Amino acid sequence: MKLELPRYTERFGSVKIHDIQRVLLLDSSEDSPPHSTSVCNIPRSRIEEIERRMAIVIPVKNEKLKVLEGVISAIPSECLIIIVSNSRRNKVDRFRMEYEMVEQYVYYTKRAVWMIHQKDAGVGSAVRKIGYEDLLDEKGLVHDGKAEGMILGMLLAKASGKDYVGFIDADNYIPGAVHEYVKIYSAAFCLAQSPYVMVRISWAYKPKILEGSLYFSKWGRVSKITNKYLNKLITSFTGFETEVVKTGNSGEHAMTMKLAELLDYSSRFAIETGEIINILEQFGGVLDPKFYEPMEKGVEIFQIETRNPHFHEEKGDEHIREMLFDSLLTIVSSPLCPDSLRSEIFEKYPDMAKSRSSASRRVIRSFINVDVKSFLDGLISSNSIIMLGRST
Ligand code: GDD
Repeated sequence: MKLELPRYTERFGSVKIHDIQRVLLLDSSEDSPPHSTSVCNIPRSRIEEIERRMAIVIPVKNEKLKVLEGVISAIPSECLIIIVSNSRRNKVDRFRMEYEMVEQYVYYTKRAVWMIHQKDAGVGSAVRKIGYEDLLDEKGLVHDGKAEGMILGMLLAKASGKDYVGFIDADNYIPGAVHEYVKIYSAAFCLAQSPYVMVRISWAYKPKILEGSLYFSKWGRVSKITNKYLNKLITSFTGFETEVVKTGNSGEHAMTMKLAELLDYSSRFAIETGEIINILEQFGGVLDPKFYEPMEKGVEIFQIETRNPHFHEEKGDEHIREMLFDSLLTIVSSPLCPDSLRSEIFEKYPDMAKSRSSASRRVIRSFINVDVKSFLDGLISSNSIIMLGRST
């Protein structure tokens, strides 16, 4: 893959946020000319090395099976796939349908896929046994929520011994785009100079149908707003206006496990914004650090623009509102958020404090001290995990 080198980097304490880099060539070999002053070549052999050490977590809730199958088929074969489903089980058992589809797919491809259901009693009890109560509701089951599903996936990725974890939504209609996202994750990890790295995807376009024809919009409705406020928060410390954050809500992102295990996570749809906020809180040098090595080695955030457009399921205005409120609440709840920005956001969105997002907002503490091997053993002994295909 050939990528532009980052032209601009915003520094916030030990955190480096690189501005958007574009993909110049999707696939390249060792023979392609290496780094020039503005372009880097990451040959496919190096990308494959990373893929062998990466798990891709797919959170799923009631998505179309055909779309999910397309997503799975696009993930490079060396990656372990971890599907965390929260799909309906009553009336029609959608999780069973997902399982049957995946089993048939693995029969032909022989690749490694792990699957769990987020609300399985055995999953709840394995979580309780390892003392990770932040994930549990009053009935001892894992809370609903995309973030909660992603965190279960991260525990499994760590238990499998992987060094990298990436996320891909299950509602992506274009397998080619999914394939590109995973290649980008690996390429960025190759470029990084620190072991504490996050890669966030910025879509070339998010097409919509408007008046009967395709309209290639650049920014999602939620991202536009989240990015603006994240940038204002950074500006309030540096004193220089910035537009560096362009991926505040990027569901498609990846991290080194060394970074993933240190972060505290925001629940539900706040997770992506919450990750940026938590990185600034923990490693930005304003608040006291809990972990010193990342302060020394630095934390890098890459934002990489794809070639493929992002074509996914549109879930309506109420869903958009919920995602926006989840994201904004994470910003206003941060000790880094200046009072003036907090008031500005509450004035603009007065309903936010009364919303469902506000009632169910939770923080899920980092899993650095969680015994992930015992978690996996607990799932295996209660038959709460399905492990298909070759061993990892
Ligand atoms: N396991 C699990 N549990 N998965 C869930 C849950 C849950 O409770 N809720 C949603 N998901 C899955 C969906 O099935 C989908 O694969 C993925 O999480 C994203 O959820 P969507 O409901 O499709 O969100 P979206 O497509 O509108 O928004 C996505 O893009 C935003 C940026 O544009 C999400 O990734 C957002 O988090 C992101 O901010």
